[in-house]
Amino acid sequence: MLSFREPGLGCARGRSRSDRSMNARSRDFIGRRGELRALDNALTECARGQLRFALVSGEAGIGKTALARRFADVARRAAAQVLITECAQEDRSRPFAPLLQLSGPFAPLAADSVGHPVPAGPDRDRAFAAVAARLREAALNRPVVVVLEDLHWSDEETLRVLPYLARRVADASVLVVATVRSDIAGSATLVRTLVDLRRRDAVELRLPPLTPSQVGLLMRSVLEKGRIDSALLSYVAERSEGNPLFVEELVRGLIDHGWVAFVNAAWQPVRSLADATVPTSVGASVRDRLALMPAEIRWILSNAAVIGPRFTFDLLLETAGTSRGAVVAAVRARIEAELIEERQADGPTFVFRHALLMTGSIAARGAEHWSHVLPRRDGRMREASARLGITSHRREPSGCKNRRGRLASPRTQAWRLIWRERLLLPVRIIPTVPRCFACTRGLRPMLVGASR
Ligand SMILES: Nc1ncnc2c1ncn2[C@@H]1O[C@H](COP(=O)(O)OP(=O)(O)OP(=O)(O)O)[C@@H](O)[C@H]1O
Ligand SMILES: [Mg+2]
Repeated sequence: MLSFREPGLGCARGRSRSDRSMNARSRDFIGRRGELRALDNALTECARGQLRFALVSGEAGIGKTALARRFADVARRAAAQVLITECAQEDRSRPFAPLLQLSGPFAPLAADSVGHPVPAGPDRDRAFAAVAARLREAALNRPVVVVLEDLHWSDEETLRVLPYLARRVADASVLVVATVRSDIAGSATLVRTLVDLRRRDAVELRLPPLTPSQVGLLMRSVLEKGRIDSALLSYVAERSEGNPLFVEELVRGLIDHGWVAFVNAAWQPVRSLADATVPTSVGASVRDRLALMPAEIRWILSNAAVIGPRFTFDLLLETAGTSRGAVVAAVRARIEAELIEERQADGPTFVFRHALLMTGSIAARGAEHWSHVLPRRDGRMREASARLGITSHRREPSGCKNRRGRLASPRTQAWRLIWRERLLLPVRIIPTVPRCFACTRGLRPMLVGASR
């Protein structure tokens, strides 16, 4: 089988030996003791027969997922049954999308064998009741922990299930841990759901930035070996403002650009950091990192970002218009650069390690790029939808009109789409992105409405 992680095959130009020693896999989990204790207490209460909710919130990259995954390990060790799922921006118009991924107690939400979600009305009421009954049954012998990631991207239906469960299985040993970004304006339903859950005494965990000493610990974990110069420590602590994702990106940026190197068994600045022209955001850091790669690889990999947070090797190959070998090399380069990770699936499937890394990869591309990739991607999606018989919540694009009511050009539509879908999200991390006028129709329905 094709291996995407062969040593020495990364083709990012300018990668130094010291860079390769950065440790991507076995990172230590830093701090968050109070938060873990609060979640642990909630699990204890839930084990006594009480449904609990925990809301983990904070800005992009602050460590919500890291905390939720860490707690999931703790809960597994405590013999709880842990179910993890995530809401995806692309699935916002698919009813119950994150819950259908879980199946098990949530299987009644899919009314038929090919995955059509339950329609509105009595069928839906019956399905909700069946989910409540199954959850109660599953939690009879050991607590069930449901980790629901990125609630800000949830579909409306999933948001409605949560308050329902709060009412119907209040005495079941179920703990729902939801992560939600504080820097994204949520829908009215999200706001209502959060208010409802808070009224029901949800455990509220707003993640603060890491302290400077925790930033130091994270840097040690990232850099794997050797001492770290104190000037470097304070530079990264100050610049990153304690955001762990930005800590990782800054450290990488400083090494990639030759400001920092491993010399005499220590990571230290080799030029004055006061003059360092390092990226000031995660997006800029990704663009800089891509700039170090050969042009062909950059082209192929930004296709991946246009496809979405998850993409298959086959689809990438189809959109690349180049040889299989070049695409394999590009994928390897990105894995080496820690922008994407390989996931187990039917065939080789990849995910961006973080949403902001995908955003940064797209920002450099022009509209032609989108018009090249989107038809292929959506053609594939429609094909898959037709195979699965999913048509109910798919809408065709209605076209994007300009202020005078005329249909905007494909180029304008593509640009609006880029701004709207990708660049307006990371409000704090990419603070300089200008606001654009809203495109209320346009290509968005085609993207979010087309099922996988
Ligand atoms: N406490 C921590 N210890 C070690 N690494 C951490 C910690 N918190 C976050 N990280 C690292 O920082 C990066 C970003 O964290 P994470 O993905 O959890 O952020 P997030 O808040 O979930 O972001 P988003 O809102 O975009 O989903 C990850 O690579 C993660 O491993
Ligand atoms: Mg996350």
